[in-house]
Amino acid sequence: MTEHFIFSGHDTVALAQKYGTPLYVMSEDILRANIARISDAFGATGIDYSINFAGKSFINKGMCKIVDSAGICLDVASGGELYTAMESGFDPKRVCLHGSNKSTEELAMALDYGVGHIVVDSEFELDNLDRLTREKQQEVQILFRIAPGIEAHTHELIQTGKTDTKFGLPLELAEAVILKTLEMPYVKTVGIHCHIGSQIADEVPFLRASEVMLTLYKKLKDAGVPLTELNLGGGFGIPYLPEDPTFDVTAYIPKLVAHVRVLCAEMGIDVPKLVVEPGRSLSAPAGITLYTVGTVKTIPGIRTYVSIDGGMADNPRPALYDAEYDAVICDRAKTEDNTQVVTVSGKACETDLMIKDIALAQPTPGDTLAVLHTGAYNYSMASNYNRLRRPAVVLLKGDQDAVLVARESYADLVKNDRIPAWLED
Ligand code: LLP
Repeated sequence: MTEHFIFSGHDTVALAQKYGTPLYVMSEDILRANIARISDAFGATGIDYSINFAGKSFINKGMCKIVDSAGICLDVASGGELYTAMESGFDPKRVCLHGSNKSTEELAMALDYGVGHIVVDSEFELDNLDRLTREKQQEVQILFRIAPGIEAHTHELIQTGKTDTKFGLPLELAEAVILKTLEMPYVKTVGIHCHIGSQIADEVPFLRASEVMLTLYKKLKDAGVPLTELNLGGGFGIPYLPEDPTFDVTAYIPKLVAHVRVLCAEMGIDVPKLVVEPGRSLSAPAGITLYTVGTVKTIPGIRTYVSIDGGMADNPRPALYDAEYDAVICDRAKTEDNTQVVTVSGKACETDLMIKDIALAQPTPGDTLAVLHTGAYNYSMASNYNRLRRPAVVLLKGDQDAVLVARESYADLVKNDRIPAWLED
């Protein structure tokens, strides 16, 4: 019996040997199971709904193919994400364009591709879109992002539904701005949207947001805006550490739907199509990152540093949000000897703390170390700091494994460098 750490049916030490490290590993089976869990929960309610995968958490052409074949929609947050989806052959009608400061170029690109929806973030953007759609004589369906004034308990940098936020229309100004669209020939307002934050473990702020948003929805309908959709964003938290609370999405969805049904009955309006935009809850648990252990340095009486061959360039979340991760020595995953408390450090020329104080099984140079739950906001936020090459991404499905994104080469690192004429010899 192997002592190796098995992820989604695959021996992680063998994966590290085959593809090299650092290596992002994504499980298509886990991704699909996570998508099915939310789809089934919505399906059981009988409501009209849409699940829009938040591409910012993990996007590349192969991932778009998975989202497409799972039959759900895609939320893109920039021209680059939109381009990736279109290059994968994704149906533009099932794409929703987000972004808190979309450029004219991005709006025009979305119109030219014919995306299904654009979520408008500001009055400035609305006016820009009005002008563009008149020029192109092209209709567009939009939702408005609203800042509902809800403070969810999560890291300050990923709280986005407060009143004091750069995102969306302030609640008290929303109605006046949205009513302007009634005079616009091509801009059709079909819904309102909010996203109160990310990595939220508690359902209460989501239910509260649905109340605030439905109150506005009713007001706008009464004023003649033909709304049919309520998009409540993403943000469902996941347990990064075994002791972290779990957001039970299968319990939350029926509760949300029941809540919305009661509120709509009280308000005397039809239940809108409900849209959610989960990113992390679908992709994070589907991914791990494999590293090779290098230097192991013990400072007597202080701590042992275990250095890995990646770090903040492939996972900036500990540095940005004090994010905590679980890890395992893949070579000795089943050992009882998980008693050595160490600090796992990245190789960047910074403190580059990946995991402070974790009990691991005697880390030794050459071991493979897996950091768990890295499928969201790791690959998508990776950088070339220290001119480190971005790792490859490997996709697992059943007993198959294949490259989803190739490892960057040294040539990739210099391919956009230019030497101005005056610097040439
Ligand atoms: N919808 C909108 C409009 C969003 O802005 C986001 C995330 C999502 C959906 C998906 O949220 P999720 O289900 O993944 O929580 N880089 C940070 C997270 C930033 C989230 C930004 N917006 C992190 O690594 O924690």
